[in-house]
Amino acid sequence: MINKNAKLSKKLKRLVPLGIGEPLPLFVKSAKGAIIIDVEGRRFIDFTSGISTVNLGHANKKVVQAIRDQAGKFLHTAFMVAPYELYFQVAQELTKLTPGKFAKKVFFANSGAEAVENAVKIARKFTNRPAIVSFTHGFHGRTLLALSLTSKVKPYKFGFGPFAPEIYHLEYPYSYRRPAHCQTEDEYIDTLLRSVEEEFFKGVVDPEHIAAVIIEPVAGEGGFIVAPPRYLQGLAKICKKYGILLIVDEVQTGFGRTGKWFACEWSGVTPDLLVCAKSIASGMPLSAVVGRREIMDSVQPGGLGGTFGGNPICLAAALATIKEMKRLNLPKRAREIGEEIEKVFKYLERTPPSASCVVGEARGLGAMWALEIVKNKRTREPDAKLAKKLIRRLFDSGVMILGAGILGNDLRVMPPLTIQESDLKKGLNIINSLIR
Ligand SMILES: Cc1ncc(COP(=O)(O)O)c(C=O)c1O
Repeated sequence: MINKNAKLSKKLKRLVPLGIGEPLPLFVKSAKGAIIIDVEGRRFIDFTSGISTVNLGHANKKVVQAIRDQAGKFLHTAFMVAPYELYFQVAQELTKLTPGKFAKKVFFANSGAEAVENAVKIARKFTNRPAIVSFTHGFHGRTLLALSLTSKVKPYKFGFGPFAPEIYHLEYPYSYRRPAHCQTEDEYIDTLLRSVEEEFFKGVVDPEHIAAVIIEPVAGEGGFIVAPPRYLQGLAKICKKYGILLIVDEVQTGFGRTGKWFACEWSGVTPDLLVCAKSIASGMPLSAVVGRREIMDSVQPGGLGGTFGGNPICLAAALATIKEMKRLNLPKRAREIGEEIEKVFKYLERTPPSASCVVGEARGLGAMWALEIVKNKRTREPDAKLAKKLIRRLFDSGVMILGAGILGNDLRVMPPLTIQESDLKKGLNIINSLIR
């Protein structure tokens, strides 16, 4: 029993490709709410939510029951061959939950990357334009087109080229690392927005060539960099002016995580296409593209699809997830959790640096918060090595968190929104005292 994790570690090394990376050194036996128990009976407070996928908590009873019930009816018919009503029920919920009072349609796929790819296909078909603009620090998945949109080179893109053509990257509004000549965030936003029209459209790609701009309202893998509302509003205005579609990637930020159902609601920006996945079905593989009806309908019959997209068990899980999230008002709970994290993280940001640890910036939105670890507060030199060490030390103390950022020096915290108050406090106390 004692060496169970070590034994499984050996199997992992033997059977799983190195490309999967280095998971946390535990093997899961069970998970419930915000607690993960490993095969040796150790208890961990989960501040990762399966990368923001179990906002409703692990193994919610109602979701598990919905999965069981649906499994007893039918597992798969392929919606494109023999459709079923569940598809419309979840689609209807998504048209109501997503921003925008116009008529919408919904397409289901299996993963975030697949939904992103389909959003790009739809945008290209509707506009009859080829180019797509994404952002530095952005992450949109690991399939070829999604990877081409993604920013971080190592390890995500390294050695996997050539990438899909007609992808262009704009600078993500990363205020903490803005150039020195922009003294305030407002000045930085103005500079960025001006440069889209004055430089990017002139020197990189003509706006009439661009089908869509795709952006995460909070760069998730990028280290929880929150795009300022004014930037998003300015970007949406530019898109509208040039007939460019705005795609918002809410794969990580969606489903209550930021304190609203979707993070773009904080800026009042309504995208033409919204991509969601992860927490939509509490861990079952389901993703969706939700968009204006006329845009969604621009694709010829048969142009969208996939064998498993809109699998009935995943949809049953999604329907139960939405019902439970509404009943518990989890977007509101995300704001409360966020306030508690913010108190601790902002305190750590203010605390004079110890010899061995410096928190450069604490930032977040709702219940997604990050600490950027640097060697020196003034120079802001990133400290990826220390960030990695802290993740390991927290794990040893029973708290699971994730790293992030293209510089590898961010610590990400995003607990399930159903976490017990006592576990939230305990986890935050452990982070607080370890970093101090
Ligand atoms: C913002 C964003 N988009 C897309 C993806 C890709 O989703 P998936 O891993 O389900 O393909 C992710 C995954 O982390 C993500 O965070």
